[in-house]
Formats: sequence, C-alpha cells, structure tokens
Amino acid sequence: MANVTVIGAQWGDEGKGKIVDWLAERADVVARFQGGHNAGHTLVVGEKVYKLSLLPSGIVRGTLSVIGNGVVLDPWHFKEEVAKLAGQGVAITPDNLQIAETCPLILPFHRDLDGLREDASGAGKIGTTRRGIGPAYEDKVGRRAIRVCDLAHLDDLGPQLDRLTAHHDALRAGFGEPPIDRDALMDELRAIADTILPFAKPVWLTLNRAKADGKRILFEGAQGTLLDIDHGTYPFVTSSNTIAGTAAAGTGLGPSAAGFVLGIVKAYTTRVGSGPFPTELDDATGQRLGERGHEFGTVTGRKRRCGWFDAVLVRQSVAVSGLTGIALTKLDVLDGFDELKICVGYTIGDQSYDYLPAHSQDQARAQPVYETIEGWHDTTAGARSWADLPAQAIKYIRRIEELIGCPVTLVSTSPERDDTILVRDPFAD
Ligand code: GDP
Ligand code: IMO
Ligand code: MG
Repeated sequence: MANVTVIGAQWGDEGKGKIVDWLAERADVVARFQGGHNAGHTLVVGEKVYKLSLLPSGIVRGTLSVIGNGVVLDPWHFKEEVAKLAGQGVAITPDNLQIAETCPLILPFHRDLDGLREDASGAGKIGTTRRGIGPAYEDKVGRRAIRVCDLAHLDDLGPQLDRLTAHHDALRAGFGEPPIDRDALMDELRAIADTILPFAKPVWLTLNRAKADGKRILFEGAQGTLLDIDHGTYPFVTSSNTIAGTAAAGTGLGPSAAGFVLGIVKAYTTRVGSGPFPTELDDATGQRLGERGHEFGTVTGRKRRCGWFDAVLVRQSVAVSGLTGIALTKLDVLDGFDELKICVGYTIGDQSYDYLPAHSQDQARAQPVYETIEGWHDTTAGARSWADLPAQAIKYIRRIEELIGCPVTLVSTSPERDDTILVRDPFAD
C-alpha cells in the first residue's frame, strides 16, 4: 500500500491539514478529491501559520499537488489563496499544482444563492460557509455546470449559459433578485481564465502515471464523515461525499489506489453549523474544551460547538470509510480534566442504539450513554513519543481503540508539525 487516504472521521476540523502536511514529507503527490474552499486546514510550521481552503496541504512543502475533478473550484478564491501563500513564501506554479479540467466552477451567483437560501431558512438554516458549495454541486449534477475546461472555449459557451442562467434566473426571481448579468459574467470569466488555464491538466492521467511509476499518492479529504451527503447528519451536511471511497471517483483513479485509509479523529468532538450533536456540552466543560482547543472556524470565524468524544459516531466512520487506522489529534486539549466521558451508545425514548439512526428528528433526540474514565494532570502538550504520555492518557487512547474497533496510527499533541507521535507508519504498510 504505497498510498494514503486521509479523511475526517467526525464533523470536520479534526486536524486533517496538520496530518496531511506531516505525511506530505513522504508523499510524491497530494490530491484533494472533494469539497471546495468551504474547507479550512491550518498548518503550523515553526513561527509560520498557513491557512489553506482550496489548495492541497502538500503545496506548503512544494510537493506536487492536484485538485481533482471532485472538487468545486471558485476561480477568484483560487487567485486570492495563491496570492496569500505567495506572500508567505510558497510559490505556486503549474510545476507544483495541477487542476482537473473537469472541475465545476463556483460562480458568483452560486455564492449569492447559498446566502439567500440560508437567510430565508430562519431557524432551519444549515449554517453553511456561504461559499456557494451546495449550489455549485447542484449544477454539476444537473449537468448545467461551467467547468475549468470551458474557460478555454468561452466563445462557445452560448447554449450552455442559456440553460444555466434560465435555471438560476428562475430561482433568483423567487428571492426577488435581478437576473444574472450575462455580459458581466462573461467579462469576469474572460478576466480570470488566464489565471486558471495554465494549471488545467488531465489530472486523472497525471495520477495514473504516478501510480504506474510507483509514486506515493496522498489523498486529502475535506470536511468529515458526519458531513457526508449520504452518510452524514442529513440535511445538516455538505454537498459532497466526504468518505474515503470518494478519493477514487474524485480524482480518476480506481478504488484500489486508496491504500492506507487514515481517519483523522479529534480526542473530543466539535461541530460548526447547525444540526444534531448528541454529546454537545452547553456548559463550562464545553466552554473549556472550546477555549483550550481554540475552537473557532478557520473559514467563517464561527465558534465551534464542543462536546465529549463520541465513540459511536467514530465507529460508524470506521465502517463507512473502511479505516485502516486513525490519527488521534488534540489530545493535549484534554490535559488537566479530573475525568473524561466517552459516549458508548444512545437512547431515544426507551430504545437503545449502538449507531446513529438515520432520521434527523431521531438524531436530535438521541441521548448519549456515557462511560467515565479518569483524566490526567500531567501534560501531553508537545509530546513526540509514546513514552512521553501519562499512563492515564494511554488508557484513554486504548479505550478509544477498543470502542471504535480501529488502531491508533498517529497521535497529535499540538498544532506544530513535529509534535506528532508515530505509532505505525501509514506509508510503510
Ligand atoms: P482540519 O479542517 O481538519 O484541517 O482542521 P482545522 O485546521 O480546521 O482545525 C484544527 C485546529 O487544531 C487547527 O487550528 C490546528 O492548528 C489545531 N491542531 C491540530 N492538531 C492539534 C493538536 O494536536 N493539538 C492542538 N492543541 N491543536 C491542534
Ligand atoms: P474542514 O475541511 C467543518 C459545514 C458547515 C455547514 C455544512 C454545510 O475544514 O474540516 P457548506 O458550506 O459545505 O455547504 O456547509 O458543513 N462544513 C464544515 N465544518 N469543517 C469543514 O471543513 C467544513 N466544511 C463545511 O459549517 O454546517
Ligand atoms: Mg477545518
């Protein structure tokens, strides 16, 4: 198994960016395969902090990075992110970044629609990042999307644009918004095309050649399993499949390319946006987790909701993504608690569950069944070897492994790249 597929095993923000950056040292190619700039991946390397939303985290090390066909791409955001990273000394050129020609574009009216819908939904809103992700995926599936390769054929866009604007103008009229200004849109597309086209490549071919040459491919998932459009807490989810199986479809490689499937798991649970969260703590303990873990969204700055570790949800993620191992992150945030709780099941009314039922109302009513485990008062912050961990922290890790049925491969003990304990090398398997 030369390749590694990294996915989030909870509701996102598990620390995927840090782990992908750490693993990228040994990868030849890093590939994003779904989502878009709704992601926010933070990398801390010494004094430098990099915040990536659309670009694969491997780019910071200069590793060849690719944006696969499963990603929805906002070209104007792309330009901004590339400029921001250039300002931090990370040069992004067609030599180290490729974008699939088949990526659907996120256009300004997708962003508008995302916001309009959210504003109109009142208490029922999803709490999206308002970046147009959902509307762009809708147009992809509706076969109306403008894709990266269309930027090289803008003069032929006529009939395609007719269908797209007819669809959106009807929606916009429902919100009392004016129709799309086609001339302005074409001008914007013409102005941005030259920024994107040098990176546009048949990424599927690049990756298949890399695979044939025995290169190591690292797939970087965004969001998390509980935000998956099929397996997540629907409708409070994102609009893509976030599970490991998507790595193949979202890049143009066969499923056997996934290799070692590494789930990134936070040592407690967080969620940003609306939706059910059985172990959420609306009290001083939740507050403490949020403060110690600096739980504020990278993309929107929103406060993340916090709660105890939910072994039921992670066990479900282990199953639906076929995880080979997990990276347990933010263990240091749990330092200093007298006791910790782990959710091992739910009750809904008088029924017991060892999985999260599908219906949103059942999910909202699910009451966690906890087991309590003694905490630790020594620090794990910055630990780089197993021997540096307090015995009680090891017990916590071992219990999690037992409950989720999957071994811990890496442990992360601070935001810093090298504060990482390697238990088993995913690339070596
Ligand atoms: P991602 O979306 O999964 O890449 O995660 P984010 O980057 O959105 O959120 C994780 C946050 O936790 C970032 O600010 C990281 O710098 C930070 N982080 C990652 N690993 C650790 C860790 O082990 N300990 C602590 N304290 N912070 C961490
Ligand atoms: P990373 O990759 C956490 C959430 C939003 C909202 C829902 C739908 O950093 O882990 P969308 O804009 O995708 O239509 O919003 O999904 N969400 C995330 N939450 N981490 C993310 O990405 C997320 N990307 C989307 O908050 O609840
Ligand atoms: Mg994030």
